[in-house]
Amino acid sequence: MSKVLEIKNLKAELFTPGKTISPISGISFDVEKGETLGLVGESGCGKSMTVLSLMRLLSPDMGRVSADFVRLDGQDISQFTEAQFCKIRGKKMSMIFQEPMTSLNPSLKIGYQIAEPLLCHDGTPIREGMVKAYELLRAVGIADPERVANSYPHNLSGGMRQRVVIAMAIICKPKVLLADEPTTALDVTIQAQLLEMMKTLQREEDMGMVLVTHDLGIVAEYCDRVVVMYCGQIVEEAATTALFALPGHPYTKGLIACIPKISDEKEFLDHIPGHVLPVAQYESSTGCRFAQRCPAATPQCRAQTPPLFQLDVGHTCRCWQHQGNAIAHE
Ligand SMILES: Nc1ncnc2c1ncn2[C@@H]1O[C@H](COP(=O)(O)OP(=O)(O)OP(=O)(O)O)[C@@H](O)[C@H]1O
Ligand SMILES: [Mg+2]
Repeated sequence: MSKVLEIKNLKAELFTPGKTISPISGISFDVEKGETLGLVGESGCGKSMTVLSLMRLLSPDMGRVSADFVRLDGQDISQFTEAQFCKIRGKKMSMIFQEPMTSLNPSLKIGYQIAEPLLCHDGTPIREGMVKAYELLRAVGIADPERVANSYPHNLSGGMRQRVVIAMAIICKPKVLLADEPTTALDVTIQAQLLEMMKTLQREEDMGMVLVTHDLGIVAEYCDRVVVMYCGQIVEEAATTALFALPGHPYTKGLIACIPKISDEKEFLDHIPGHVLPVAQYESSTGCRFAQRCPAATPQCRAQTPPLFQLDVGHTCRCWQHQGNAIAHE
């Protein structure tokens, strides 16, 4: 296998009134061709910020992104100018947003919107673009592509719109697809249909995928490897089977313990006590960012920032419990 995306030390800064905050602080991970990497963590951990930063979707007046490198199919794109980046955004690397209306223009017909990346990036003639749009609509499970292509976004249900957004994201056959909670807003049956379909399309094109989700059930079913984020950092990374079999980080253990089971007869769902800190509280703190909520925290955890330890091949964990292990390269 070869790496299609390699990210080293990705950081984002946001300009908020009165101060600059750093919601993600040094994210590094790789994605292989044809692989699905799950990006998980509770709300506010920095999952969206990570993918938005990769796509450079923070406007210059809103924030700034930096990285040691971001290699897309072997080429470092971290120093690209905006003009250079425009040529790869939506073509070699594309993104699906959680809320489909974010990426659909309410006043343009669906068919044109799907074909647009082809028209812009590849100079494909409109007629050919539309034929491709019909093909893709069929591929994403739409039985009557011509009718849908002639509709406006408000004519379609949420599930249909998300199918359209997926078609738009893959029309240029990207090397990497960043999918930010692509199915969270949909009911479970449609969710499963869409994720299955994305997997099929991914296999056909050997595309690398980053699947952002807070649903560990989805991770277990669809992801090859997992990156767990907490307060703007990666706290654990492992193959999916290893993560569920031998989670190393108390946060990961907490997330797994919260998965609802059918046999549970509890009135309330389990949750990890406490909550994710606001950025201003964690960005410059020392110690482990999870220490306040951790049942196993020691004075060392509160005083010293843990590095990532190497638990096994491909398995790293940011927790002092594993300090007998070698420190992993970040
Ligand atoms: N425009 C902004 N201005 C200030 N803070 C922001 C902004 N956007 C995000 N943040 C903060 O950055 C942190 C990371 O947010 P992000 O949206 O990446 O979280 P997330 O993991 O995607 O959460 P969710 O599961 O809710 O989508 C949060 O603390 C959030 O409040
Ligand atoms: Mg998000």
